[in-house]
Amino acid sequence: MHYSEDLLEEIRTRCDIVDVISGYVRLQRKGNSHFGLCPFHGEKTPSFSVSGSRQMYHCFGCGAGGNVFTFIMEYESFSFPEAIRALAERAGVTLPEPEYSEEARQKEGRRARLLEVNKAAAKFYYYQLRAECGKSALRFLLNRGLTEETMHSFGLGYAPQAGNALTLYLKSKGYDETLIREAGLSTFHEKHGTNDRFWNRVIFPIQDINHRVIAFGGRVMGEGEPKYLNSPESLIFDKSRHLYGLNVARTARKGHLILCEGYIDVISLHQVGMTNAVASMGTAFTAAQAGLCRRYTDELLLAYDSDAAGEKAALRVLSIIRESALGGRVIDLSPHKDPDDVIKKEGAEGFVRRMEAAENGFFYEIRVLEKSFDQKDPGEKTRFHREIAKKICALSEAVERDNYLAAICERYHINTDSLKKLVASHAINTGLAKPVTRPRAGTREKDDPAQHIRRAERALLTWLSEDVMLYKQIEAHLCAADFSWPLNKRVAAILFEALKMGKANPAAIISQFSDEDEQREVAAIFNTRLDNLDTPAAIEKAINDIFRMVKANIHELNVRRSGDADGAIDGALAAIAAKKALDELPRIKITH
Ligand code: GTP
Ligand code: MN
Repeated sequence: MHYSEDLLEEIRTRCDIVDVISGYVRLQRKGNSHFGLCPFHGEKTPSFSVSGSRQMYHCFGCGAGGNVFTFIMEYESFSFPEAIRALAERAGVTLPEPEYSEEARQKEGRRARLLEVNKAAAKFYYYQLRAECGKSALRFLLNRGLTEETMHSFGLGYAPQAGNALTLYLKSKGYDETLIREAGLSTFHEKHGTNDRFWNRVIFPIQDINHRVIAFGGRVMGEGEPKYLNSPESLIFDKSRHLYGLNVARTARKGHLILCEGYIDVISLHQVGMTNAVASMGTAFTAAQAGLCRRYTDELLLAYDSDAAGEKAALRVLSIIRESALGGRVIDLSPHKDPDDVIKKEGAEGFVRRMEAAENGFFYEIRVLEKSFDQKDPGEKTRFHREIAKKICALSEAVERDNYLAAICERYHINTDSLKKLVASHAINTGLAKPVTRPRAGTREKDDPAQHIRRAERALLTWLSEDVMLYKQIEAHLCAADFSWPLNKRVAAILFEALKMGKANPAAIISQFSDEDEQREVAAIFNTRLDNLDTPAAIEKAINDIFRMVKANIHELNVRRSGDADGAIDGALAAIAAKKALDELPRIKITH
């Protein structure tokens, strides 16, 4: 959906950034800005600033920055359209209806109705748990150690004994039977007619990341089969793409997510403050779920049951997350059964202690492997070493392979050279000699001249965006084409246009870019500050140096191009002209 610039501006100006961010971060006024603890990295002294006049935020600690849209995107992990919708709602701005094709519109309509009927059902279940008929369910949950507050925040409910109480209720609210069945809330049998899917069960509503109820899990109270019953998949529920608890966990900002097996585990962890716990819904963890986690964290702590099934499941998760560039560590819960059990027996402190001692996923895998070989039998021991070599080969980075190889040799008393040979021969045999590389953030920016220029161009754009008087002095000598990096060039074009009119508004410029990665980049462009500039003289010198550096770079690129195209003499002439042009650049003065 593409929204007009006017509309985006209307939403942006109606959502004052200081107001919006105050809802998430405690801010204190200092001079022209507000300061607080940065929500995007851990810190003890505030380096996160929000400017009401510029309608931007910036963290001097981690470099995060942007306008009200990027804040919501970053904090809530929303896409750009999701952020627009959230802020429009807040500001009371109605968004135009997207123009869907007939088919897409019908589908969208069905999705909306399914969400609606689920919401109504969740309300019904919620109410039943607190009503007379829900007494035994309530007792069951209280006995499991859940407080009423916890039950409330997870929206827990109860599906009553009567075979079609929910269906009758929903029909009385005007929902038709087909929709109720399509949502998986009822089942139909030739013999028995329509019946509620869930009856006499404790109900766990399953929410998507936007807190909308997309399905239910129902647990029997006490013994009974099946222990859990889940809603079937539907247009709005694909269980391989959701994680229970993620709607809360994604904003917990604890640096990692705790992955468990059960609903109850998630709930009891949240209850004791570990609001970063999530669970897959009774099915094996999938690559799609790993991708989902990757949006919010780069490390998973596995809190799977301590039995053989839990171990097998943990190994599977480890192999899946390796593909998604997620780190994994495994929490040892033995001799207890699951996280809920640990909390019961050892309290939250016990769980935290175990969490802090969580074992590196690779070592865990090797340790589990070790158990399946008889270490006293030389043949088995060799096979064990071969398996280790295979695992080391699968690591994508050379340093990683070296480090693990060294650590494993020490731990298992294996001769380093022998294991190295095994690794090498495995790599050659399987054609793995050149493993895939995965992208890593923040590579050697400082050493790379192109990155150096990129930063210089950005610093210049930041200065100009803040002071139209600087721009006036060099207007005749600087244009968008002087910027060598494509995005810098695009931003410069928009910025200079605005400066010519007398005032630049970086927050507004950001929202002219519709791609969210670009928006983050543009926000970064307008927050590029050089270190150690504390006096006005130092700043003035830096601005001039940077201005010349940017111009020199573009001249050099042009000289190189004309040299390539027209031969050496033209190249030399261009170089002389470029030198002259550089010498004639005016000196910029800070005027206030
Ligand atoms: P408690 O045993 O009450 O502590 O609940 P739990 O959530 O810890 O259950 P358990 O460890 O037995 O199972 C873990 C998860 O597997 C559950 O939360 C369910 O998502 C899923 N699960 C367990 N039993 C069943 C079942 O019979 N059917 C289905 N579909 N899923 C199940
Ligand atoms: Mn369990």
